This record gives sequence, C-alpha cells and structure tokens, in this order.
Amino acid sequence: MNWQQQTCLLTGATGGIGQAIAHALASKGVTLILQGRNEERLLALAALLPGDHQILVADLATASGLTAISEAMTVTPEFSMLINNAGIGQFSALQYTSAEEANEVINTNLTAPILLTQRLLPLLNKDSESHIINVGSVLGSIGFAGQSLYCASKFGLRGFSEALYRELADTNIRVSYFAPRATATSINSQQAMAMNTQLGTAVDTADKVAKALIDQLKQGKTRRVVGFPERLFVKINGAFPSIVDKALLKKLPVIKRFIFQNTKEAL
Ligand SMILES: NC(=O)c1ccc[n+]([C@@H]2O[C@H](COP(=O)([O-])OP(=O)(O)OC[C@H]3O[C@@H](n4cnc5c(N)ncnc54)[C@H](OP(=O)(O)O)[C@@H]3O)[C@@H](O)[C@H]2O)c1
Repeated sequence: MNWQQQTCLLTGATGGIGQAIAHALASKGVTLILQGRNEERLLALAALLPGDHQILVADLATASGLTAISEAMTVTPEFSMLINNAGIGQFSALQYTSAEEANEVINTNLTAPILLTQRLLPLLNKDSESHIINVGSVLGSIGFAGQSLYCASKFGLRGFSEALYRELADTNIRVSYFAPRATATSINSQQAMAMNTQLGTAVDTADKVAKALIDQLKQGKTRRVVGFPERLFVKINGAFPSIVDKALLKKLPVIKRFIFQNTKEAL
C-alpha cells in the first residue's frame, strides 16, 4: 500500500476508534477527510494530526447529511479510501427499546454506510487500487443478548461487505470487513463496561484496534476479527451455534442484571 497516495474519508472520526484510526493513518501520510457531527471536536482532532486534513460536518443518518458528504467528495481529488466507521451502540432488552431507537441503530449502523457507499462508489479512484472498509463487530457474527438491534445492524453490514466484495472482485475496488471486539470507548455505557469486567470479556484499547486495521490493509485481508478467543468463537458460532447458545445461556443472568440496570438508569 502506498499510504502517501491515499485520500481517505473516515466516518465517525471523532469517536474513540475513529480518532485512533485517524492518528494511525495520518502518521503514515494518508490525507484524511474527517467526518463527524461535532465541528469543534473535528477541528481539535485535525489540529493534532500530522499533515493537512479536511473536516466534514454531517449527520449520516439524514438524507441531507449524505448529500452534503457526496457533494464534498465530488470535488475531492484522488479519493481512494472510504472507512465506514461511524456507529452507535445498544444495551437494552428489545422489549424496552423504542421504535425510534430501533430505527436509529439500523439507520446509523447499516442503512447509512450502504447509502454512503452507493453514492461514493462512482467517485472512488479507478486508476489504481481503492478501498472500502466497513467497521463491523464481533457482534456482527455472534448474536448477543441485550444487543439484538446492534447485532442485526452489524450482521447486515457483514453481509453487505461480503456481497459487495464479490460484486466488485473484477474491479480495482477492494471491499473489506473489519470486526473489533469490545473496545474502551464511549459507545459502551458504564453498565456495559461493568458487565464486560464481570464476564471476564477482554477489552481492547482503541490504539490496538487501529493498529489491527492498518495490518489488515497492509495484508490485503478481506475479513478480520480482532482478538483471540473471539476469532475462534466466531468460527464455532458459524459452524456449531448450539455450543455458543449453551455457553451464553450460562452468562444470561449476569447479562440481564446489567441490561436492566442500564434500562432503569436510562428511564
Ligand atoms: N467500542 C467498541 O466496543 C466497539 C466494538 C466493536 C465495534 N465497534 C464499532 O466501531 C465503530 C466506532 O465505534 P467507537 O467505539 O469509536 O464509538 P464512539 O466512540 O461512540 O464513536 C462513534 C462515532 O460515530 C459517529 N456517529 C454516530 N452517529 C453518527 C451520525 N448519525 N452521523 C455521523 N456520525 C455519527 C460519532 O460522531 P459524533 O461525534 O458526531 O457523535 C462518533 O465519531 C462503530 O461502528 C462501532 O460499532 C466498536
């Protein structure tokens, strides 16, 4: 990969993982268009990065936001990399989740990256290799209690990535799917983090996740799940889901306790 020749639109650049990816790419010489909804945070991030970068303030969950991004990208020369990283979490029993929240999770995590990719595909540089990287999750391969909407969105994103990879396999555009495990960022509520501690779930730093993304790009891998044993659990769940059903059933009382605490605090 010739990093210095890449121009990358990074969505969700102000988030924990987004900032770490921005630092990792900028230090390799990639030119960034940093997208988020908060101008102040985007400006602060751009000021900290080596190199010259642009910011793009837009809400991906709205049609006007998607239009603003595609209009800005139309006039961006040599656009060669799209990282669909923006996302929101969920930590609640479906029964206590509103229809608005359900729409917001699916819209932000699944519909928005699909529509953004669709709009930006014609703008990606066709002369040399271009990249679309969709940031999914381990929970895009393993259904988890209390995160049914999040899992639905990330399972969908994984399917979208695989199908698009195959659709574009005879072009210069490489599509990849990158699946972090739990990572210490503000997407996880305090209750979710406390549950992870109690369940003994490993939690990565955002810097470690960004490094794994850079490695995936360097190695040209289409799919990457970050962390062991999560990588193994994903394989077992794919081949023998009833084994994972049983393992997660044992954890359900703990999961439910934290989900309901979280729901009570939110009310
Ligand atoms: N942290 C984890 O445990 C974990 C694990 C696996 C996968 N992931 C995935 O990693 C990605 C990054 O997550 P994170 O942990 O860095 O979360 P985060 O710290 O909460 O950051 C989320 C980012 O998404 C942006 N965003 C959310 N809704 C948006 C919208 N409607 N329009 C534009 N931008 C929007 C936020 O921008 P604003 O500044 O505008 O709010 C923020 O920059 C997500 O796709 C997430 O699902 C995270």
